[in-house]
Amino acid sequence: MKEIEIVTTVISLNYEELGSEEKCLVDAARKAAAGAYAPYSHFHVGAAILLDDGTVVTGANQENAAYPSGTCAERSACYYAGANYPGVKFKMIAVTALDKDMKEPSLPTAPCGACRQALLEYETLAGRNVPVLLVGADQIYRLPSVKSLLPLAFTSF
Ligand code: THU
Repeated sequence: MKEIEIVTTVISLNYEELGSEEKCLVDAARKAAAGAYAPYSHFHVGAAILLDDGTVVTGANQENAAYPSGTCAERSACYYAGANYPGVKFKMIAVTALDKDMKEPSLPTAPCGACRQALLEYETLAGRNVPVLLVGADQIYRLPSVKSLLPLAFTSF
């Protein structure tokens, strides 16, 4: 028997401490969150993905009266990127949210498990780490990769 330790290192920063490319991506995610369609949960999530060619693709959660038919912000963004910019590598991802009062929670919002799995596919396609910014009003978490958000991911069958 042996013990395997899985370590995730998260850097916590505030907006002013971000680099200019990071700030732009956070701004894009915040803008996207404001455009979410969330009349049922009233939780508005925005995701922004910087591609290798400089394109910024955004997505927001889209809910539906038939609840499971809706989709998360991260998946709307990464599938849009995959469909419209096939083969262009992901460079960085930012995610944020607005609550029912359209206020950004103090602490960062993290992607659900299914979105982590979906995003991981594109990190694998990129062939390198894709840093992730999880954005809150008072703290922003910088993770080195999607994989660090989903250790022991499903990768093959
Ligand atoms: N949501 C996302 O957009 N991303 C996530 O990673 C988790 C949850 C959305 C789905 C639903 O519209 C609302 O937030 C409440 O769960």
